[in-house]
Amino acid sequence: MKLSGLRVAALLTGLLVLTCGQKTSPVLPETCETQVDFARCIQPIFNARCVRCHGTNGGLSLEEGQAEQNLINVPSTCDPAFLRVAPGFPQQSMLYLKITDDPAKCGSRMPPSGDPLPQEEIDLIRRWIESLAP
Ligand code: HEC
Repeated sequence: MKLSGLRVAALLTGLLVLTCGQKTSPVLPETCETQVDFARCIQPIFNARCVRCHGTNGGLSLEEGQAEQNLINVPSTCDPAFLRVAPGFPQQSMLYLKITDDPAKCGSRMPPSGDPLPQEEIDLIRRWIESLAP
């Protein structure tokens, strides 16, 4: 009994090491852990999960070359009291409120259906918004 308990513990430790060592988001390069560059770290998230709705055909375009200028310091359409991205302030940025399903958001959580963004990608978007602080 003692031995099997140990084995279970060893197995669990192994699993923990495995899952923690693994990157959960295949779309992102390793270097995003140290520096959040928009083109390399954030745009790939939009490409993979958002542009199928947020394309160039009206509304908020999150396409390459347009996403930043459509987000930073631009008032939110569904609640103009908020900016889509307020440089330095994730909690005042509609983008962040929507991806975290914050009660202060207007409209739906983003993405509106399916799984929410992985925590790793939410953290990265938060760090990107923080990094824009003047
Ligand atoms: C299935 C289609 C769909 C997907 C996928 C989707 N969106 Fe949206 N998004 C919408 C619609 C429709 C609205 C407008 C209604 C609303 O705000 O809830 C919207 C609104 C928004 C707004 C608010 C814009 C404003 O000015 O108020 C943001 C920010 C946003 N989406 C970000 C994202 C991000 C980031 C992703 C990817 C993680 C994403 N969306 C994925 C359909 C989508």
